[in-house]
Amino acid sequence: MEVFGNIALLLGLCLRVTEGADIYFGMLAPIGTPNEQMYGPVQLALNDINNHPKMLSGHTLRLVIKNTSVPANESVYHVGNAVAKLQDLMTSKTDPPVMALLHYGSITETDVIGEITGKLKMIQISTGSPSSTLSQRLVFPYLYRTIGSLLDVITIEVDFVKRFGWTRVALLAEDKELVTEELDARAYKYGLIGKKYVWLTLMQHVKDYRNLASNMHQKGQLSCNAEQVVQAAEGQFIIFRADAKHASEVGYESLRAFTDHAEILREMKEQPWYNDDTRIILYQVNYDAIWAAALALNKSLPRLPPRAITNFRYTDLSTVTDALMPEMNCTNFFGASGPVSFSLHGSRMSWLSMEQIRNGTAILFGIYDQKSRNITLSEKINDLWYSHGGSIPQSGYRTVRKVLVVADELKIAFTVIAMTFVPYASSNTTTHPNIY
Ligand SMILES: *[C@@H]1O[C@H](CO)[C@@H](O)[C@H](O)[C@H]1NC(C)=O
Ligand SMILES: *[C@@H]1O[C@H](CO)[C@@H](O)[C@H](O)[C@H]1NC(C)=O
Ligand SMILES: *[C@@H]1O[C@H](CO)[C@@H](O)[C@H](O)[C@H]1NC(C)=O
Ligand SMILES: *[C@@H]1O[C@H](CO)[C@@H](O)[C@H](O)[C@H]1NC(C)=O
Ligand SMILES: *[C@@H]1O[C@H](CO)[C@@H](O)[C@H](O)[C@H]1NC(C)=O
Ligand SMILES: *[C@@H]1O[C@H](CO)[C@@H](O)[C@H](O)[C@H]1NC(C)=O
Ligand SMILES: *[C@@H]1O[C@H](CO)[C@@H](O)[C@H](O)[C@H]1NC(C)=O
Repeated sequence: MEVFGNIALLLGLCLRVTEGADIYFGMLAPIGTPNEQMYGPVQLALNDINNHPKMLSGHTLRLVIKNTSVPANESVYHVGNAVAKLQDLMTSKTDPPVMALLHYGSITETDVIGEITGKLKMIQISTGSPSSTLSQRLVFPYLYRTIGSLLDVITIEVDFVKRFGWTRVALLAEDKELVTEELDARAYKYGLIGKKYVWLTLMQHVKDYRNLASNMHQKGQLSCNAEQVVQAAEGQFIIFRADAKHASEVGYESLRAFTDHAEILREMKEQPWYNDDTRIILYQVNYDAIWAAALALNKSLPRLPPRAITNFRYTDLSTVTDALMPEMNCTNFFGASGPVSFSLHGSRMSWLSMEQIRNGTAILFGIYDQKSRNITLSEKINDLWYSHGGSIPQSGYRTVRKVLVVADELKIAFTVIAMTFVPYASSNTTTHPNIY
């Protein structure tokens, strides 16, 4: 009996081995440079995916990685370099074909690579660009991002303004990137700071303003000094993508975490690539990028023709993408960076952290849930308006009604004066048409 047991076990093992093919995703990312934010976290996630007992039914997920770093001594345009690496990936005689692409790169690079994968009908998951251009589904039909689009975060501005009852706001936008520190410097110069103003800035990476501003000041990149920037930024509100830890700090909890985000965080902090100056969330969104694709793959495996799994070729790409798309569309899991789902145009829907700058440091005070548009404010922060005299500043024109009693003689006098001034005014405008 024992022998039979062993044979059965052996057979089971053999079956598992023959069943489990290697499945490949491609990855285009810089390696070995300060902006290396994808490579390490994706490796960590890949390990967790392959060790998860309920993932990929015995198949092993592997990566074909192309390093998009541009050597410092060569004058290569990074976008052209990335395109060459993608071509390399898709035409290689030695690399196995890949079912989907993970990509980290600049805004322009993501644009170009996204358009190419759109033509190739290949799913691409990117983490480098918040540009609203990428939300055009016709141009980028297979692009997903585990970071949000700037288009989606507009709703938080609206909800923030509504929450505090303001009716009159000004919007400053730039078509090229203006560093917030320089904006703060200009606000300082023009005196647009203090009690009468409330500043709200979207998607700020910075934690320590004093440090950054003094570095920029030393390099001559600021039009005033670091302390003036810190002073201008005092009390300013900033919005950034929240991580799971932020949410629990303000008492906003999800239903059930799929991954142990505290454990992942601890693991990340032990890695040689972990850099204290980088916001943790920038690593977490990369960790979640490969999980999003792997979970969609896991769910679509039963619907894929077995041959397309065991012997995948680029001629199967369309079949695989058709199977993955509905699963990508309804992605919904709790990753290292909080809840992961995608908007209609493929960008990340999650939580945003609401922070206030105090003495140069960003302090968390609330969480915004993009799906429910719910703002949860931390109870610990009850002095949000400390720099505005302790109460919510008022905005808009206020109507003040007052009954005034005017003497009849005065009424007549006013009427006469008005009549005498009207002709004057009109004659002047005709002689000086250029005053318009
Ligand atoms: C992967 O798919 C299988 C079968 O469809 C499912 O039972 C399993 O729960 C999935 N794994 C995860 C982690 O969702
Ligand atoms: C990636 O490319 C950059 C620039 O060519 C190089 O410095 C770095 O060592 C490369 N990293 C790896 C792991 O190949
Ligand atoms: C750049 O540096 C590398 C390594 O030092 C060298 O192999 C390469 O030829 C250099 N490229 C140019 C264009 O000088
Ligand atoms: C996925 O969502 C996009 C955007 O809403 C839509 O255009 C596409 O048809 C969807 N695909 C599938 C297979 O559900
Ligand atoms: C602000 O921060 C600076 C530098 O960390 C510190 O020296 C100073 O005491 C702080 N001021 C206040 C009012 O907390
Ligand atoms: C908004 O958040 C509060 C506090 O976390 C919660 O009680 C409420 O149910 C949420 N509302 C929605 C619509 O999610
Ligand atoms: C007409 O406009 C000019 C220029 O604005 C001004 O200098 C002048 O005093 C005005 N004249 C009258 C009659 O209001």
